[in-house]
Amino acid sequence: MPVPPYNLYPVFNIVRLSHVELRVSDLQRSRAFYVDTLGLQVTHEDDEEIYLRAMEERGHHCIVLRKADKAEAGFLGFKVFSDEDLDKAADFFKERDLPVAWAQRAYQGRTLLARDPHGIPLELYSRMDRLQPIHQKYALYHGVKPLRIDHFNCFTPNVDESVAFYNEMGFRVTEYTEDEETKRLWAAWMHRKGNIHDMAFTNGLGPRLHHTAFWVPTPLNIIDLLDLMSTTGYLKNIERGPGRHGISNAFFLYIRDPDGHRIELYCSDYQTVDPDLEPIKWDLKDPQRQTLWGSPAPRSWFEEGSRFIETEVREPDLKAQPIVAP
Ligand SMILES: [Fe+2]
Repeated sequence: MPVPPYNLYPVFNIVRLSHVELRVSDLQRSRAFYVDTLGLQVTHEDDEEIYLRAMEERGHHCIVLRKADKAEAGFLGFKVFSDEDLDKAADFFKERDLPVAWAQRAYQGRTLLARDPHGIPLELYSRMDRLQPIHQKYALYHGVKPLRIDHFNCFTPNVDESVAFYNEMGFRVTEYTEDEETKRLWAAWMHRKGNIHDMAFTNGLGPRLHHTAFWVPTPLNIIDLLDLMSTTGYLKNIERGPGRHGISNAFFLYIRDPDGHRIELYCSDYQTVDPDLEPIKWDLKDPQRQTLWGSPAPRSWFEEGSRFIETEVREPDLKAQPIVAP
């Protein structure tokens, strides 16, 4: 299926991705990873959960770590423009026979819970508690100096269907990977906020969360993180990179948290606000789409991901596979 034309006037207005809930087995072990090593800032913590924000963020949280028996993802959070957009969003999901519910969440206004057609749990809100800026409190910067949450990437059993649905919600495809044989989408990168993506989809057993990415100031911060992780007991948590993506042109590193949730550190992609931007197409068999410098990604990168709570997964409809590292 070809990439659909941009829907520039969706019925409700998502501003950007906002936050994610990750279920973890040991809060203190996760705290050592996310706070002491990556450098995220704690905005609330107790025996059950830790709320974190990155250095540029005024909203209360971009990650909620919640203590649980299973290392799953709770939901993906998105900010909408206004409270009115929440009601329009509720109608949008109901009209498509998708589940919706209203919830009260800590540090947020009225919150809409919904699921996309493959079952990804979504959380939409318009107002989150605002905190004092800390982006010029340089004494607080450490680790990889994470500035803001940048995007989610999810495995989906049918990328064409996921792209069609998120396109209806106003997400615009910036780059995509096509299977030359079937002409079907194998992966796609879609944005609301004017960079490469808020949300990406990858063909695979799904739905599952592939990774959550954070924008960092420069590639050198990523090199510094590698030096830190490789000498503080996190060598095995380094999964792929550093490198430069072909798709997005961003500099990247993929790491795994203590429960296996995948985190990407990411910087220097490009602006995509033009409403007539032409999406860039890549061939699934082109290794430079993954890494401009040519090295293929490891098998784990294509196969492993975090399941969402109370969500069935299924095998992908499309069987085509990319080139994988031996
Ligand atoms: Fe990514």
